[in-house]
Amino acid sequence: MYYSDEIIEEVRFKNDIVDVISGYVRLQKKGSSYFGLCPFHNEKSASFSVSRQKQMYYCFGCGAGGNVFTFLMEYEKMSFTEAVQALAERAGVELPKIDYSQEAKEKAGLKATLLEINKEAARYFYAQLKSRRGNHAYTYLTDRGLLEDTIKTFGLGYAGKSGDELYRYLRSRGYSQEHIRKAGLINTDEKHGIYDKFWNRVMFPIMDVNSRVIGFGGRVMGDAKPKYLNSPETVIFDKSRNLYGLHRARTTKKPFFLLCEGYMDVISLHQAGFTNAVASLGTALTAGHAGLIKRYVHEVYLTYDSDEAGTRAALRAVPILKEAGISTKVIRMEPYKDPDEFIKNLGAEEFENRIQAAKNGFLFGLEVLEKEYDLDSPEGKTSFLKEAARRLISFEEELERNNYIEAVASIYKVSTDSLKKLVAKMAVQDGLAAPAIRYKKTEGRTVKKEDGTLTSQKVLLTWLIDMPELFYQIKKYVAPSDFTEELYRTVAEILYEQLETGELSPAQILDHFTEEEEHREVASLFNTRIQKLSTEEEKERALEEVIIRVKNNSIDRRMQALNPADISGFQKLVEEKGKLQSPGTLHISF
Ligand code: CTP
Ligand code: MN
Repeated sequence: MYYSDEIIEEVRFKNDIVDVISGYVRLQKKGSSYFGLCPFHNEKSASFSVSRQKQMYYCFGCGAGGNVFTFLMEYEKMSFTEAVQALAERAGVELPKIDYSQEAKEKAGLKATLLEINKEAARYFYAQLKSRRGNHAYTYLTDRGLLEDTIKTFGLGYAGKSGDELYRYLRSRGYSQEHIRKAGLINTDEKHGIYDKFWNRVMFPIMDVNSRVIGFGGRVMGDAKPKYLNSPETVIFDKSRNLYGLHRARTTKKPFFLLCEGYMDVISLHQAGFTNAVASLGTALTAGHAGLIKRYVHEVYLTYDSDEAGTRAALRAVPILKEAGISTKVIRMEPYKDPDEFIKNLGAEEFENRIQAAKNGFLFGLEVLEKEYDLDSPEGKTSFLKEAARRLISFEEELERNNYIEAVASIYKVSTDSLKKLVAKMAVQDGLAAPAIRYKKTEGRTVKKEDGTLTSQKVLLTWLIDMPELFYQIKKYVAPSDFTEELYRTVAEILYEQLETGELSPAQILDHFTEEEEHREVASLFNTRIQKLSTEEEKERALEEVIIRVKNNSIDRRMQALNPADISGFQKLVEEKGKLQSPGTLHISF
């Protein structure tokens, strides 16, 4: 960790979690906690809880959880250090100069160096474009309708024809071969040695949301293949977490983004005044992109190419966006290929009309589907409606589903009632009649299924935090070493230490972990749902049971690990276990 425990604790202490999260999520007080709609998965009723007492949040729906640092790490996609820095600033805590460990220094240093190299490269490409040698590239861009100002805004450039000029330039600026390679700007082969990756291309710097150059796309000026060449993924370039044009689109006043396919589309749209346009980076849309978009808008207008590939890509994007809680509309570019060509031919006003006429993403999907059926024949229409009904099941909320059923019924001229019945029938056929509560995935993560012994260990940890007064009774029976899962054990060790000194601070325990995934798990340890128990007696019995389970499991583990020749060790464990079997051996009282 870069900062001392004390300073991290101070930053956390001065940033009340309820205050911080209230800046992002509307919270309502319910009992001792605050509840709101989870920002990490799509939901309609509030299962996201924030506890002032624990200084932690936890979502009972998707399992997201952590302390105030975790929240920023997840929501703002910050590293732990960045989250500490942001919150220090928010609370006016002055941070000491970072005390880097060697490894951290190298990692932070590498990222910074690669960003510098990319920035240098972008400057170099831009200078080349403006030089005489880049004249044909500049003409290529202006011939495509780009204005001087636009070229500058997007930092477009030109990579020259001599095989290693950028490499030589960057070397002359003092960057090592290794770093230039790690930035993805050079290749090596036996025949040519080291040579620039981008060669005789118009260059599109790709910027992150903070306008830092993280990679490049380079386009040939003729018909050569490949048309575009992109930087490989590097430690600073993650294609599934960045969008072209986002550094400008993020400040749009419009409540939606225009999502298109190409760099040129984004640039043309911005030039025409549609500064809310973004594009993915030559890859299909991912859940990561959707999450990124969701930070800024809740609606996306897809302006994909009008060819078959573009249509397919749009159809694939709709459910991905829906899963993230983003509604979609689809804008058609016919008779032109893409937004760039459309604008060039019909202008901004006509494009605005297309925005107005955009179709709902789901209905667009049906329109495409429709082409596979002969709607004039009764069989054709029936099979089509069956498939439509099947798709309508995906709207889990009744009101929304009914609205769609009505819309579909009216478009395809069938009665709402019979379509509703068909939907119900298809649902039964597909075994979805009573959809079980499904844990939604948040970016590829699912809530782990767990076995009973792990649950007992979690319950015990939650109990210790909710009722620290039980500590002295619990510790008579259970030691941190009885927690069999490594993460639980570490948590228990810290927790026991805190309870021993009377300084319980669950949120601080999280600071011993720096990975998001660990934060999530630890948060779940402290938020196990414990059945509501009313009488003291019930509680006593429940706690006793949990202690016995944890202890038993620990003994079993130790037995398994025992050397088979160790008879006395074995006997001792059997004895220990025997004690647990007779009821009432534990004297727990609330
Ligand atoms: N793309 C890519 N590699 C290719 C072709 C395309 O990475 N070989 C990506 C680029 O991000 C490109 C997008 O896919 O911007 C869309 O491709 P395409 O429609 O072919 O290009 P346009 O952006 O329309 O470019 P242009 O108008 O210059 O033809
Ligand atoms: Mn194009």
